[in-house]
Amino acid sequence: MLDSLNQQPADALLALIKLYDADPRADKIDLGVGVYRTNDGATPVFSAVKAAEQKLVAEQDSKAYLGPEGDMGFVHALMPYIFGSKDPTMGGRIDGMQVPGGTGGLRLAFALAKRSGINRIITGTPTWPNHPQILADLEMESVGFSHAGPVGTADMAALRAAIADAQPGDAILLHGCCHNPTGIDYTPEEWDEVARLVADSGLLPIIDLAYQGLGRGMDEDAAGLRKVLAAVPEAMICYSCDKNFGLYRDRVGAFYVMGKSAESTVKVLSNGHVLARTNWSQPPDHGAAAVRLVLRDESLTKQWLAELDAMRTRMRDVRKALAAADNRVAGLDLAPLAHQNGLFSMLALDKDQILAIREKHGVYMAGSGRINVAGLTMGNIQKFIDALADVTA
Ligand SMILES: Cc1ncc(COP(=O)(O)O)c(C=O)c1O
Repeated sequence: MLDSLNQQPADALLALIKLYDADPRADKIDLGVGVYRTNDGATPVFSAVKAAEQKLVAEQDSKAYLGPEGDMGFVHALMPYIFGSKDPTMGGRIDGMQVPGGTGGLRLAFALAKRSGINRIITGTPTWPNHPQILADLEMESVGFSHAGPVGTADMAALRAAIADAQPGDAILLHGCCHNPTGIDYTPEEWDEVARLVADSGLLPIIDLAYQGLGRGMDEDAAGLRKVLAAVPEAMICYSCDKNFGLYRDRVGAFYVMGKSAESTVKVLSNGHVLARTNWSQPPDHGAAAVRLVLRDESLTKQWLAELDAMRTRMRDVRKALAAADNRVAGLDLAPLAHQNGLFSMLALDKDQILAIREKHGVYMAGSGRINVAGLTMGNIQKFIDALADVTA
């Protein structure tokens, strides 16, 4: 029976990692994998997280089950950072549960949407490839519109048209910050309009916040989400700590619901607990417990925020350096990278150019032209710019 399954293609990025690993050139550059890297090319454990992990090992007295909701101390400790410290529960209407990474949160949000009768999710494209993949697995429809305009900013006309064409009972998926793969976030004024359009349309917003703190700052990166929540009656929020705490493989995420009332939030989350139970039963504990310890300790919180600041500053410096090289790469418009956010941006390279930059220069990037700006260092950025100039000449 199992023989009836068809062979599935390998994940394109994982295949790229294998090619990169097999390349003997010492000056090769990996811009494919979506993890933060220091100026030395490392992805270290945050020192605040290491300290919290040591504390956890010393203090934890049981590993007994917590329940499908996971570590609620962790879930609640994050809320002021996401929803603002003034009223993080929006009068009791927001609550959440722990999930296995941002991916677990998205899986849960889409499955809950389906449970509540929603079948179509409006999504700006390109988007993180796992968004449409999860929707397809749930037999839900993703309705695309163009997220990026021609000058490296958001295509607001396409967004307006997509919302105007929406049907009653649709949902809309929004990237809270650091859009993957384009780096194009809405400006504060555009978020005002997004919030108004979503509220007027009656669409259910599902907000994916996977990179808070890596764009403009912790509050700045949540400002759009807060505007939308202030305008609409209900929303779902999928949060990842895997990037902003560097916990990738520990799978740390939270899922939040803002219901019409505190009672409806409890009801929605009870459905979330059932779905968790039938999918992963309980989320992995370790990373979330470490985040809780960071957030409950003033000095560890300070240390974590300082580490996050350094990451953000480094990525902004790389973006500035790329934008400043605009004149040197005649065939590409690099200037917009300076005002884009987060780990990723897209370069308008065609397939042949992407192959040439890999084969001739040892620069590895996704076939879509997405680059991870954190893969660039002050040591290799000139080589990258020269390689771009060569393949676009
Ligand atoms: C936009 C977006 N959402 C969610 C995720 C999921 O992150 P996690 O590793 O926490 O599952 C990612 C990861 O790359 C992402 O880019």
